[in-house]
Amino acid sequence: MSWEKRLMVALDIPDASRALDIVEKLNGHAEIFKIGLELFSSVGPQIVEAIQRKGKKVFLDLKFHDIPNTASNASAVAARLGVFMFNVHTFGGFEMMKRCSDSASETSIKEGLQRPKIVGVTVLTSLTIKELKGEIGIHRDVKDQVRHLASMAQKAGLDGVVASAHEVSEIKRLCGNNFLTVVPGIRSSCFPTDDQKRRATISETLREGADYIVMGRSLLKQEDPVRAIELISDELKSEQKGLFKCN
Ligand code: C5P
Repeated sequence: MSWEKRLMVALDIPDASRALDIVEKLNGHAEIFKIGLELFSSVGPQIVEAIQRKGKKVFLDLKFHDIPNTASNASAVAARLGVFMFNVHTFGGFEMMKRCSDSASETSIKEGLQRPKIVGVTVLTSLTIKELKGEIGIHRDVKDQVRHLASMAQKAGLDGVVASAHEVSEIKRLCGNNFLTVVPGIRSSCFPTDDQKRRATISETLREGADYIVMGRSLLKQEDPVRAIELISDELKSEQKGLFKCN
C-alpha cells in the first residue's frame, strides 16, 4: 500500500475556507483529513459535512475524556455525523471507553450508518517519561503505560489506539495485527520537531507497521501542500535506499 493511503492530514487551522482549499489541493494525494480541536471549535460540525461532501473521510480528533454518560452521548453524535474515525482518551477509563464504543455501535445500527472506527489516545506524543513521572505522577515507563492502555482499550471494544511510532510493534504484538495504530509525531530529520517529543521519521513509522500516519505542520507550513507531499515521497525513497541527506 502506498504511504499516501495511510496519510491523515491534520487540518490544524481555524479557517474553513483554507481547510477546504487544502482538501481540494490534495485531491488524489490524501483521502483522510483530521479535524481537531482548533478547526472544530472554530467552525463546528459543518466542516465535517463539507469535507465528507467532497468524498473524503474525516477523522474527528476531539479526544473525548469525560464521565461515561457525557462521553458516550458525544460518541453517538460523532457516529451520526458519519465520520470515518473518532477518538477518546484512554485515561477516561474502561467504562468510559466501553460505553463510547457501545453507543457508537447502537447509533450506527439504528440509523443504518457505518460504525466509525474508534481509537484511544494513549500517551500523547508530546510527552516523555520526564513529564509522565515528574508531572503527571505515572511511574511506569512510557512503553509499559502505552501497552497497558492499549490492552484496556481493546478489551473495551475500541478498534485501535493513537501512540508514537516507537510503541507500534509492541502494540501489534500484544493486541494483534488487526488492532489499529494511528501515529502522530512524524518529522523529517531535517525539519523542526516543534512540541513533538516521541517522534519518528516517516520511514521509521512505516517500518514499525503503523496503519495510519498523522501529519500536520510538516505539510501545512509549506506553501504548497502537494509539493510537501512530493518532498516527503522523495525523502522516503532515499531513506529506504539509505541515501537520504538534508539539503
Ligand atoms: O503538526 P503535527 O504533525 O505535529 O500534528 C500532529 C497532530 O496529531 C495534531 O493535530 C495533534 O493534535 C494530533 N495528535 C498528536 N498526538 C496524539 C494525538 C493527536 O500529536 N497523541
